[in-house]
Amino acid sequence: KIVKVKVPATTANLGAGFDTFGLALTLYNEFEVEEADGVFIESYPENKFLKNPENNLFIKVVKYLCEAEGKKFHGAKLKQTVNIPVARGLGSSATAIVAGILTGFAVHKKPLTDEEFFKVAYLFEPHPDNLLPAWKGGFITALKTEDKTYYSKIDFPQELKAVVVIPDFELSTELARSVLPKEIPLKDAVFNIQRASLFIRALQEKRFDLLKVAMEDRLHQPYRKSLIPNFDKVIQYAYDSGAVGASLSGAGSTMLALALDDFDKIGQAMVSAFSEAGINAKYLVLDVDT
Ligand code: HSE
Repeated sequence: KIVKVKVPATTANLGAGFDTFGLALTLYNEFEVEEADGVFIESYPENKFLKNPENNLFIKVVKYLCEAEGKKFHGAKLKQTVNIPVARGLGSSATAIVAGILTGFAVHKKPLTDEEFFKVAYLFEPHPDNLLPAWKGGFITALKTEDKTYYSKIDFPQELKAVVVIPDFELSTELARSVLPKEIPLKDAVFNIQRASLFIRALQEKRFDLLKVAMEDRLHQPYRKSLIPNFDKVIQYAYDSGAVGASLSGAGSTMLALALDDFDKIGQAMVSAFSEAGINAKYLVLDVDT
């Protein structure tokens, strides 16, 4: 039996919503798998790293779920189409984890509850702000306690598009988290609560003029921007070209702009800000995956 799953890219944080907000985008990784004796991985485009079963998160998750059912994992033949660049802050690992869980539960004919989902997903990655929109689509606000994850899906205005600008260097989430301080001043916490709250209302009321201030952030971007050449300029050029919002995408290295029009102009301007720092980048104009 062949199982096919398609999971969207996600952009987390959206500025002020650090470790809280996540948005699914219309760029997908696809996984097609059937049982086999031994592990065989075809990856399109060709990717040496993902071809190694030791590195392939999808295979790891499927194997884990098989063994959790008390069965021996004999292998799998996986054909994966990887459209989402790896280690760029677009949730590529979350797609493999979500696809592995959906596949495992389909194969073992088990209903997938939230509890089951998180129990497995968190063994492989701790960030619900990528995992949830990859699973459920749309825009999600999430929080995780010791024993439960609470979340809510919020309508995201369809007229807003995401311009994602992907530089040609990888950035691991681990490194991007290692530069964050352990503690932050109270006024910075207040700064972000005010903006994250405003962001939600701005979406609901379609007050796109509020997004610029609502996406300001003092919790992660001021520290992470040392890892992104010309960070401020990329944001500046996005706004100068007509974006209504701009931020780092997840832990980076991709940069995100939200816009109502002028998508190509914004993408090209952001790419040129990167090239002024000697960095090659490309941009994509994406819708929200609902
Ligand atoms: N919210 C997380 C971070 C997302 O910014 O580190 C990582 O995928």
